[in-house]
Amino acid sequence: MFFDTHAHYDDEQFDLDRAELLRGLPEHGIGCVVNPGCNLASSQKAVSYAEAYLHVYAAVGVHPSDAGDCTPDTLDQLRRLAQSHPKVRAIGEVGLDYYWEDYAPHEVQRACLRAQMALAEELNLPVLFHDREAHGDSLAMVREFPGVRGVMHCYSGSLEDAKTLVRLGWMLSFTGSVTFKNARKAPEVIQWLPLDRIMIETDSPYLAPVPHRGHRNDSRLVPLVAEKIAELKGLALEEVERATTENAMRFYNISSPFFERKEPKEL
Ligand code: NI
Repeated sequence: MFFDTHAHYDDEQFDLDRAELLRGLPEHGIGCVVNPGCNLASSQKAVSYAEAYLHVYAAVGVHPSDAGDCTPDTLDQLRRLAQSHPKVRAIGEVGLDYYWEDYAPHEVQRACLRAQMALAEELNLPVLFHDREAHGDSLAMVREFPGVRGVMHCYSGSLEDAKTLVRLGWMLSFTGSVTFKNARKAPEVIQWLPLDRIMIETDSPYLAPVPHRGHRNDSRLVPLVAEKIAELKGLALEEVERATTENAMRFYNISSPFFERKEPKEL
């Protein structure tokens, strides 16, 4: 059973087949999925999917793309969502993104992130952290909240930063981008990284792994990420499958898989 630790099924690209796709995941060997929110509305959708499907869990949060709309009222509503729905298992997707120039100013992004790190600490939930072109400030924020556990999602940083994050108790997760030809830093990070710190994700609908690159991604492709990690670490796929699923269950505090393992079907 594979665990897709990060997928955005509220994206409009799933409007035509969302229910069918989500319902069918266990038949394809995908036993669990976490859907993070990117703003209040998408967090509410994430919670609704978690309520509809046993194998779906939710995270609630404001992504750096939406940091400009992160008000005290937004934070109150996220808190209420997390407190009233037991399948909300993390605060996310939060973080810093200095790549896109039309995102909120860095200072606004940091304020929004800081408030959500504090919320995670208050609720004793882990955070799902997005860091794009903001490695220094991201690491500073992690250090500012030593009581908050989290995962650097779609990890793209250096080996040195990976070592620091591991020392601070964080997990790193990887997407289909590790299968891209131009993946530079990820291979050496994965080769070094202890197996008990690795999680896998699709970040659907984005970042479909090779040979599906450029197409809509969904959780059925997460085994291709595990396969690449197995190759890089010289391990059997089954070992990476088992370890990453156990890691995710521990991270999200999920005690038992709802579905028996089934062989993944060909897509
Ligand atoms: Ni994401």
